[in-house]
Amino acid sequence: MIRVGIAGLGFMGKMHFRCYQALEGVQVAAICDTDAAKFEGQGGAVGNIEGAEAPLDLTGIGLYDDFDRMLAEAELDALSVTLPTYLHRPYTVQALEAGLNVLCEKPMALTVEDGRAMVAAAEASGKRLQIGHCIRFWPEYAAAKELIDAGRYGRVTAATFQRLSLTPSWSWQNWILDGSKSGGAAVDLHIHDSDYVQYVFGMPQAVFSRAARGPSQDYDHIVTQYLFAEDRPITAEGSWSLAPTFGFEMSFNIVLEKATLVFDVSRAPVFKVCPREGEAFTPEVAAGDGYSNEIEHFVRAVRGERVAEIITPEQSIDSLKLVLAEKRSAASGELVWL
Ligand SMILES: NC(=O)c1ccc[n+]([C@@H]2O[C@H](COP(=O)([O-])OP(=O)(O)OC[C@H]3O[C@@H](n4cnc5c(N)ncnc54)[C@H](O)[C@@H]3O)[C@@H](O)[C@H]2O)c1
Repeated sequence: MIRVGIAGLGFMGKMHFRCYQALEGVQVAAICDTDAAKFEGQGGAVGNIEGAEAPLDLTGIGLYDDFDRMLAEAELDALSVTLPTYLHRPYTVQALEAGLNVLCEKPMALTVEDGRAMVAAAEASGKRLQIGHCIRFWPEYAAAKELIDAGRYGRVTAATFQRLSLTPSWSWQNWILDGSKSGGAAVDLHIHDSDYVQYVFGMPQAVFSRAARGPSQDYDHIVTQYLFAEDRPITAEGSWSLAPTFGFEMSFNIVLEKATLVFDVSRAPVFKVCPREGEAFTPEVAAGDGYSNEIEHFVRAVRGERVAEIITPEQSIDSLKLVLAEKRSAASGELVWL
């Protein structure tokens, strides 16, 4: 039985809780949150993902408001760090030093220096550090990468990715709308697509971004062109500046020589392969969602099973480097070379 702890029972902490609960051989043994209200009525923080609002059954779980005490008492094998981003580094490093494997939410940190300290702690401890880049595990995004890599439809000639959200209002003490704590939508939300661009195409040579400041006082709406040696338009747009009634949408259009791959959560069907010749069709994709699949992957690795290398800590640093370069490009109005 793998004993898991969760630090931070907000929107994402609850998501991780549900995913662990659905797996065999895993026990959520302890949870730490400094806000006692999080252990009571489980309504509250709902985030922008459907189904996240149902109450949790915390019976039999060690509930802590003190992280040191949880680490000392709960005999954990692994920890999910689902805390506000500015706390990722200290809690992750402390847990790794205490001999735990860590699944830390994305973005791994606010600075590359913090990310490097986390990787160094993982290397020193010999424990696993996985960053929650769940889009790499999201069934349709994973299927699109497989289709591209298989080469059956030729090369990608253009691609565009979008992640658009209403302004988040559910975070603890509204930390997410303080750009100094979250990095704004560019670092917090849009990093999902920057990371996926990196996953599919490798690190770009340069980025060119335009961005608008928003409620976090930081860049809350950003549009980026990723420039590679091969000249083709690869762009992504991320924003949490949309009106409350907009809700949330994520989508992509990936144009290959012999087919176009389309994903849009607001369309039916959500995922389509449109070949240049023949009918459009919806391919089979893996069950679950990005969260359940990344957590299952983490648990299997903690158990000592051999797992595919889907996201490394170094790549997580690169994704952070990418969004920080995008912000620098937006600030300077210039191309930023990586
Ligand atoms: N992968 C995704 O799709 C996704 C989605 C949303 C958020 N996130 C990331 O997850 C992380 C958490 O975001 P969230 O939306 O769950 O935030 P949240 O505000 O809903 O939850 C944070 C929780 O941490 C608790 N907390 C604060 N300080 C603490 C401390 N010192 N010790 C213990 N508990 C403490 C708060 O009480 C709160 O319950 C962020 O890094 C965010 O970027 C990822």
